[in-house]
Amino acid sequence: MTDEELFWRASLVPKKVDFPFNRVLKVAFMFLARGPLPFAPLWERFLKGHEGLYSIYLHTQPGYKLNVSESSPFYGRQIPSEEVSWGSISLIDAEKRLLANALLDFSNERFVLLSESCIPVFDFPTIYKYLTESDYSFVESYDEDSPRGRGRYSKSMYPEIQLYQWRKGSEWFELNRDLAVNIIADYKYYLLFSKYCKPSCYPDEHYISTYLNMFHGSQNANRSLTWVNWSFGGPHPASYGRENITEDFIQTIRNNGTICTYNNKPSTYCFLFARKFSPSALEPLLNLSSSVMKF
Ligand SMILES: *[C@@H]1O[C@H](CO)[C@@H](O)[C@H](O)[C@H]1NC(C)=O
Ligand SMILES: *[C@@H]1O[C@H](CO)[C@@H](O)[C@H](O)[C@H]1NC(C)=O
Ligand SMILES: *[C@@H]1O[C@H](CO)[C@@H](O)[C@H](O)[C@H]1NC(C)=O
Ligand SMILES: *[C@@H]1O[C@H](CO)[C@@H](O)[C@H](O)[C@H]1NC(C)=O
Ligand SMILES: *[C@@H]1O[C@H](CO)[C@@H](O)[C@H](O)[C@H]1NC(C)=O
Ligand SMILES: *[C@@H]1O[C@H](CO)[C@@H](O)[C@H](O)[C@H]1NC(C)=O
Repeated sequence: MTDEELFWRASLVPKKVDFPFNRVLKVAFMFLARGPLPFAPLWERFLKGHEGLYSIYLHTQPGYKLNVSESSPFYGRQIPSEEVSWGSISLIDAEKRLLANALLDFSNERFVLLSESCIPVFDFPTIYKYLTESDYSFVESYDEDSPRGRGRYSKSMYPEIQLYQWRKGSEWFELNRDLAVNIIADYKYYLLFSKYCKPSCYPDEHYISTYLNMFHGSQNANRSLTWVNWSFGGPHPASYGRENITEDFIQTIRNNGTICTYNNKPSTYCFLFARKFSPSALEPLLNLSSSVMKF
């Protein structure tokens, strides 16, 4: 299918509310990666025993063939992919391709976007419950009055998008099915971003957060579930390798004393995933996954 055919098909919504089968909700883990998945062994351990409650989708650079054994949950999960270049609209295209493929499975209810450098910091049952019982989706969305926030708005988007509606947020989203369908179905606002959001405007940091703010804000928690450390400054966040992985560090990501809101109540569980980790972090992470992350 072309993207156009795929997005159309994925945007179809059943009118009949009762499913003619026992619908067990699934979480779609959607990996947007260049190629290899260095943390596949950690994800495999995380997913083990929970078959039927999740689906995996993998978008890579075209031509890349993931080499995993047939018993891996990643086996045969690559979707038809196109070239992606950092900071361009092609990144949104890839995200939509992942969403659309995942929407074709009617059991998928929650949609998590991940990269090859992301890891889970809780066990599967905790993450599954947190997502499937949430009244909100998790897409970071904030108004920043700075050159890197409102400064990236283009007047050419007026009047369809106005400055006060403009938002910024992390690319790494978590969406419910309804929002995923709406994003796949949108063409009008997507087109404005593809025309007028070019460096130093980055569609992946603005399109979904602005679009949701305009039409579906009440369904959004406006925060990301993916922990990241930006305090280094610069265009890329801190990356953690072998020498940085300690029990304390992972515990800090799981709970650093910060209180966030979950279903309108205070919660200390604010992040379920974390980035960025370099491949050398795999071994120490596997060593402490059972004691710290409980899987
Ligand atoms: C795939 O992985 C297996 C096992 O690690 C290895 O023996 C094989 O050479 C790999 N194949 C390719 C095409 O890289
Ligand atoms: C998130 O922001 C929207 C505005 O876009 C607002 O309507 C909504 O109440 C906020 N969500 C929460 C949980 O505060
Ligand atoms: C985040 O990065 C800053 C700057 O390198 C560092 O001081 C801080 O300890 C890091 N935070 C965590 C939780 O690792
Ligand atoms: C990781 O550890 C190295 C060596 O101790 C240190 O130089 C580096 O700043 C650490 N990285 C982060 C992101 O904390
Ligand atoms: C906890 O983590 C959040 C997100 O990284 C950060 O904003 C906050 O400052 C941290 N709090 C403490 C007490 O370190
Ligand atoms: C992981 O555990 C193995 C076996 O206990 C040990 O040999 C190895 O040094 C550990 N690696 C790290 C990075 O802690």
